[in-house]
Amino acid sequence: TFRNWPHVFRAGSATAPVLLMLHGTGGNEEEIARLADSLDPDATVLAPRGRVIEGGMLRWFRRISEGVFDVDDVVLRSAELVVFLAGARAHYGLGERPVVAVGFSNGANIALATALLHPEAIAGVVAFSGMFPLTGRDVTADLSGTGVLLLNGRSDPMAPLASVTVLAAALAAAGAEVEQHVRDGGHGVTQPDVVAAQSWLARRG
Ligand code: MLT
Repeated sequence: TFRNWPHVFRAGSATAPVLLMLHGTGGNEEEIARLADSLDPDATVLAPRGRVIEGGMLRWFRRISEGVFDVDDVVLRSAELVVFLAGARAHYGLGERPVVAVGFSNGANIALATALLHPEAIAGVVAFSGMFPLTGRDVTADLSGTGVLLLNGRSDPMAPLASVTVLAAALAAAGAEVEQHVRDGGHGVTQPDVVAAQSWLARRG
């Protein structure tokens, strides 16, 4: 799937992290690649385009309604993303360099699902306005060694705190090292979120 999959790639410094940038619903790879610049201008950036279209908007997996996901599709699309990543690793000579998935909203949800289902593919996750993407599934993978930064707004109807709490517990139970920031406000990437992500990446990325 790598060959026909539209994406942005920018090589960065060898000592800076490799960031897999995953856009939200209605976003695209160019727009989310720009967020990488504010997180770490030296990062290597890989930003694929979501392969599901909903009402003309790009996203990562199908949903039944807002906040109600087609979990079978989440599982399928996560596996596709892992195949894309393997293709990109080979094509761009990334070798075994750790990849941190950074996503906003629907992009955060696919990043989290991919880390939960395929922890060997993803070293860390920065999730802006993410929630638990695998309702009804048991998480059996071992995420020890995986770092996860969860950035959420206290009043976010699209990523309700109850789901974020389930998410943080599932990640911690699987052995991930979870850092969680809950700020005032709703869905979005705020300046304090960006600062928290910068500092987390500088420590862990
Ligand atoms: C999702 O579908 O992943 C969430 O509802 C967030 C979004 O609207 O992208």
